[in-house]
Amino acid sequence: MQATPIAHGEAPGKIILFGEHAVVYGHPAIAIPVFQVHARAEVYRAQTCTVEAVDLRRRVHVNRASERNPFARIVKLVCATVRRPLPPWRIVVTSDIPIAAGLGSGAAISAAIVRAMLAAFDVSLEDAAISELVYEVEKIHHGTPSGIDNTVVVYERPIWFVRGLPPEPFRVARPLHLLIADTGKPSPTKIAVEDVRRAWEREPQRYEALFQAIGDLTKQARSAIEQGQLDALGALMNANHALLTEIGVSSPELDALIETALAAGAVGAKLSGAGRGGNMIALTPKQAVSQVENALLNAGAVRVLHTTLRPMDVV
Ligand code: MEV
Repeated sequence: MQATPIAHGEAPGKIILFGEHAVVYGHPAIAIPVFQVHARAEVYRAQTCTVEAVDLRRRVHVNRASERNPFARIVKLVCATVRRPLPPWRIVVTSDIPIAAGLGSGAAISAAIVRAMLAAFDVSLEDAAISELVYEVEKIHHGTPSGIDNTVVVYERPIWFVRGLPPEPFRVARPLHLLIADTGKPSPTKIAVEDVRRAWEREPQRYEALFQAIGDLTKQARSAIEQGQLDALGALMNANHALLTEIGVSSPELDALIETALAAGAVGAKLSGAGRGGNMIALTPKQAVSQVENALLNAGAVRVLHTTLRPMDVV
């Protein structure tokens, strides 16, 4: 007989619409949750405390694991925060968010574990506090994360994000149809972020100017979203991608999918997340969604998700 979990928790994936990389250096970025993919954690009664990542075929004994083990770290952080000893639980984690693909899988898995544990302890925490716990684990994954991934997957709403500040909601004047296409090439965020940091250290002025230009585009993008200017928003996405290419984080696979999407009717397209692989996003008029989706699949995308940012998603 299948055991029944005593509690569970979930968190969505995410994409960054504008401002990745520059956000690490204090510039604004815009991110939205992607509810088509999820991480889920289930808590079962057991003899000791373990985390089982089914898709990764990994089992972690929390009290024996290293401090840098992300699963053990998040479990211990939750216990310390709610002042409880390590519980005798088997925490089973599943996720359909591709790993190292710019969709926030690490942050979503940590957030799902926190939510499941809080439910099992019957304790509630504010989103800001949950996001902070997830951020601690993001540091293990990414080194110097801005905090945008943990924020968007925990708040589960579109955000205007500046490092160190609470996330801000913004107005969405009309629905935005976004296609998210996976190159199938994994690219760990940590490596891309470290490479950008080294390049910034070598050429600080050039990189500061690129980050500033991305920040300026992001501000214009917010106003285009608030005013429902689809074509302007598409052009800003293309400009953001050109700057990300200059920063050195695009790849032939990303560029090929971006060109394909634009040729098939998207009004703008760019890489999303750390780059070098992972996913690209295309802003597509509603009537062109199927056409652009088919073109992306024919061009080698391993998966295409369709997500819609709607006016009521933003509160
Ligand atoms: C990763 O989703 C976004 C980056 O800007 C890194 C970060 O903000 O921590 C590349």
